[in-house]
Amino acid sequence: MCGIVGAIGNQACSPLLLDALKRLEYRGYDSSGIVTLDGATFDLRRAVGKLVNLDAVLTQNPLSGTVGIGHTRWATHGGVSEMNAHPHVASDRVAIVHNGIIENYRPIRARLIEQGHTFASDTDSEVLAHLFVEAFDAGLDPSQAMQKVLAEIRGAYAFAAIAQDFPDVIMVARNASPLAIGLGDDGSYIGSDATALAHLTRKVLYLKDHDYALVRADGVDIFLSDGTPANRETVIVAASPGMIDKGGYRHFMEKEIHEQPDAILNSLAGMTGDDGRISAKMSREQLQAIDGIVMLAAGTSHYASQVARYWIEGLAKTPVSCEIASEYHYRNPVTTGFTTAIAISQSGESLDTLKAMRHAGLCGLSTIGLVNVEGSTIAREADAVLPTHAGPEIGVASTKAFTAQLTVLISFAVALAEAKGHIDAARADTIHDQLQALPGLVGKTLNLFDHIRPIAHQLKNARSTIYLGRGHLFPVAMEGALKLKELSYIHAEGFASGEMKHGPIALIEDDLPVVALLAADELMEKAASNLKEASARGGRIILIADERAVRDIDFEADIITVPAVDPLLAPIVLTIPVQILAYLTALDKGTDVDQPRNLAKSVTVE
Ligand code: AGP
Repeated sequence: MCGIVGAIGNQACSPLLLDALKRLEYRGYDSSGIVTLDGATFDLRRAVGKLVNLDAVLTQNPLSGTVGIGHTRWATHGGVSEMNAHPHVASDRVAIVHNGIIENYRPIRARLIEQGHTFASDTDSEVLAHLFVEAFDAGLDPSQAMQKVLAEIRGAYAFAAIAQDFPDVIMVARNASPLAIGLGDDGSYIGSDATALAHLTRKVLYLKDHDYALVRADGVDIFLSDGTPANRETVIVAASPGMIDKGGYRHFMEKEIHEQPDAILNSLAGMTGDDGRISAKMSREQLQAIDGIVMLAAGTSHYASQVARYWIEGLAKTPVSCEIASEYHYRNPVTTGFTTAIAISQSGESLDTLKAMRHAGLCGLSTIGLVNVEGSTIAREADAVLPTHAGPEIGVASTKAFTAQLTVLISFAVALAEAKGHIDAARADTIHDQLQALPGLVGKTLNLFDHIRPIAHQLKNARSTIYLGRGHLFPVAMEGALKLKELSYIHAEGFASGEMKHGPIALIEDDLPVVALLAADELMEKAASNLKEASARGGRIILIADERAVRDIDFEADIITVPAVDPLLAPIVLTIPVQILAYLTALDKGTDVDQPRNLAKSVTVE
């Protein structure tokens, strides 16, 4: 998943493109590049690594062209090198940038090489540039050329092409990967999402799958892949703030951990009706019609769905199936007994989750998009939307979006349970009151940085770590393991505490860190005895617990306590120290906290 941008107008576009790329760097930071067309000449600048490297190259050697395209890369095909960095230029006649995967690039490449084309990179994307050269050699115009190219390629793509023969147009197309077109007063722009264009225009339209468009300085023409003209709605997107800064924190992740009281408060407000009571923004009838929910998500969002299963089955007596999105639609799932699919995604663009949601829709389920990005593809395609209001999340490791998802999901469970008569209004209001007290509780846990720092200092030397949780803390244990993996590159695995004795306990040897979660609930004693078993075999226990749950702990442990919290809401509060531990371990280890290696914030390839 990469970020692509483009601009055509009457001013030098390279500074605009660089700014736009900075807003998309969360999508990939292996390499980047910009190319402009100055008269009939392509001027290309590329650099390996972060955008700061490209910025330095451009400061040394600026570009002056008024039409150009740019790219920030997350490598899929072809190693991380300048040669494989985008833009790719073919025969000095066509330049392209691409996000996605051209699945049938090998046979196309072989055919073009046979016809005398010379390839400079190992990427799948470069075939696009050569296909356009081939089309123009056949005398086709940009629209005809696009139809020919789209007819030949297969896979996920959002790409932009500029051509020496046709300097007054940017040719763009999408299938599965997101693409927004911005219409400004001084020109037209393209970007992988609208935030990339926020400093240029708020007038945006989104292409649908298999659309292509010819973008000129004074407007845009949109077509279906067979050349039939098409109209797409122009929307005015919310003014997004300037370049999002760290607000005085060292990292976006640190800032976003501290923003959780607000993220929870705002997300809860989004699930509160005019009467001040919890509301899922659906009618009682709509809620009562929900009979069996399939949860579709990836990564951290998947773990949020697993916590929610305990809440929805426990409170609303409604069956929930938690599906790993990338597996769901290739498994030909049986949907009997399920009426609704909830696709959970911070970005609203994860292709696995988008495709799983589409599949559920094709199987007749009504779809709900639980997303943090307004205007994202999942939000636009779902039948209904449950928004989280965590604000932009820049750090690749998800934090505030996770607790905001949990806040929306518990509120949804309460609304569903009340609508179905499984809980009464008084119970619903009690939970609502407890949710309103959450920001305060979470605020208190944010004081734990200094207490956790020495524990993280020890953890950084670990080669492997086990996370344990029982009941609805089991998914939080898996989330904790994911955080440590993606931030500090330490191997970590989450287990249900009760499952340890069926095998994983064999992993425990002297000093192996075991991070365990404990709430003051009916499973407390069982979970504590599982920890005692781990401690007895030499595990070094790091216990993250409700302050009331540590009273009877009689084995050695580094203890991190959070204020007393109703067991129902313990997953939300106990998540905070889990995040802080992973953050401080990574900090101590010196890894790149906001942009960990090999990762990107929004995964738009399968
Ligand atoms: C979490 O820290 C990761 N960034 C990743 O697992 C993420 O949760 C996953 O890619 C899903 O992203 P989404 O919520 O934007 O769909």
